[in-house]
Amino acid sequence: MKTIGVLTSGGDAPGMNAAIRAVTRTAIRKGMRVIGIRRGYNGLIKGDMFEMNDRSVSDIIQKGGTILYTARCPEFRYEEGLQKAKQACIDAGIEGIVAIGGDGSFRGAADLSERGIPCVGVPGTIDNDIDCTEYTIGYDTAMNTAMEMVDKLRDTAQSHERCSVVEVMGRNAGYLALNTGIACGASFIITSEMEYSMDSLVAKINSSRKLGKEHFIVVVAEGIGNSECIAEQIEKATGIETRATILGHVQRGGRPTVRDRVVASEMGNYAVDLLEKDIGNRVVGMQDNKIVDFDIQEALKMKKKFTEELYDIANEISF
Ligand code: ADP
Ligand code: F6P
Repeated sequence: MKTIGVLTSGGDAPGMNAAIRAVTRTAIRKGMRVIGIRRGYNGLIKGDMFEMNDRSVSDIIQKGGTILYTARCPEFRYEEGLQKAKQACIDAGIEGIVAIGGDGSFRGAADLSERGIPCVGVPGTIDNDIDCTEYTIGYDTAMNTAMEMVDKLRDTAQSHERCSVVEVMGRNAGYLALNTGIACGASFIITSEMEYSMDSLVAKINSSRKLGKEHFIVVVAEGIGNSECIAEQIEKATGIETRATILGHVQRGGRPTVRDRVVASEMGNYAVDLLEKDIGNRVVGMQDNKIVDFDIQEALKMKKKFTEELYDIANEISF
């Protein structure tokens, strides 16, 4: 391949810029041209793209967000949109694409690969909800941001002897909630992967109260929702003044952590290695801490095991 494109799609994640940088510089070192495509598949369909050089990706490794912007593109789910995208690639001389995003973006990448433009997916989402990979770019930064926020909430919960119910992102997945919860010493973590009852939550709070605990943190995964309602129920059942906080999009921003910068650099570099060999329809992932790749359709069928052991540990040590 002589020319490749790179785009970010779906929800942004800290570390996407580091991945764009790695893709660009790896490709340039291999003698390829790199086209930056703006706003995900939208930019591809509209031909909103520009040639990148080493300097286009200077001073971005430390920045959150994505310099290529990101978007959701409903048109890309239909044949007409895919054909427009294919034609735009042909017009721009793009022979392969690195698509940085989540599952939805990978489905789009598979569809475009099927139509003759080889694509490689790189997992970028704060949710860590992509089954073929142990790790997704942005996850570590988001966990650290959520942890900092919950630490702050703990300060005020401690002063007022309150219970703080905190809802963290993750779409339907509880990885962010579980890790934030254990890192912040939450009394209880609620995720859709693990069964729970309000009775067991209240019993846990009451038993640690008997052991002298004066304030409480309950972390709720976004997939469960209802944090206001959970807070009201806790207050009613325990008599402890309770407040709910939804952390929201703050978790998607900020300077990427070391882990996100390093993994993004490795994955971006690996993706270009595949395209250089004319290998498309693949997604890059991490297994046993090593960077690997899978067929996109196979990857989309995989199922990742939730870290139940960690959940049990969190429960055991949070009295
Ligand atoms: P993420 O990549 O984070 O999972 P989305 O699910 O919003 O985010 O998907 C991002 C974009 O990928 C969509 O806006 C659309 O352009 C494309 N996409 C999603 N699903 C499909 C699909 N089934 N076929 C083709 N393209 C898709
Ligand atoms: O996938 C990342 C994520 O932040 C999820 O945690 C959340 O459910 C969703 O995106 C929010 O999407 P939007 O940016 O469209 O509000």
